Amino acid sequence: MRLDKLREASTMRYLQGFQAVLLMLLAMSAHASPTLYERIGGQAKLKAVVDEFTNLILEDDRINFTFADSDMSKFKKLIFEQLCEITQGPCKYTGRDMHEAHAKLNLDNAQFNALAEDLYIAFERVHVPYRVQNKVMALLAPMQRDVVKPGFVAPGTQKAPANVR
Ligand code: HEM
Repeated sequence: MRLDKLREASTMRYLQGFQAVLLMLLAMSAHASPTLYERIGGQAKLKAVVDEFTNLILEDDRINFTFADSDMSKFKKLIFEQLCEITQGPCKYTGRDMHEAHAKLNLDNAQFNALAEDLYIAFERVHVPYRVQNKVMALLAPMQRDVVKPGFVAPGTQKAPANVR
């Protein structure tokens, strides 16, 4: 009987030790891999990126006309939510899906690339590391097929304006 109790107590100690090691490993792995949102620099940094990005879009003659009828403060709120959500930040995107939001705009690949370039410049201005920028871009790239009208080439010049060359 006493032996049974001793065995029980040592099994309990063993399990508690195992639990402690498991918790330590979990804490270490959480610390070892910050989310992309954290690697960008969190809310303040992402907000700064979105501010720069919106300004660049509005200055960019290759694409600014597509936003002529848009509410830019709503766009800023939604693009922030979306970038926050896809980089595992604490946000929920509340806008339309990418196909629905862009269908009427008749966008082509060159315009998509122009917008991507503006986002790279925005990241650069806010000093987000290039490796992190590329990770975000990799998440956005598959959206091209929903944003761009297949086989469409928009009329007019595709030349980059001076401020983004
Ligand atoms: C991966 C690329 C893109 C992403 C992630 C993106 C993201 C978004 C988001 C989140 C919205 C708000 C949706 C809503 O209103 O519910 C939006 C709207 C809009 N986007 Fe994009 N977009 C992309 C590409 C483009 C491109 C290439 C253009 C034009 C060159 C563009 C022009 C617009 C315009 C004009 C609106 C506002 C539409 C409206 O006011 O109804 N987007 N986009």
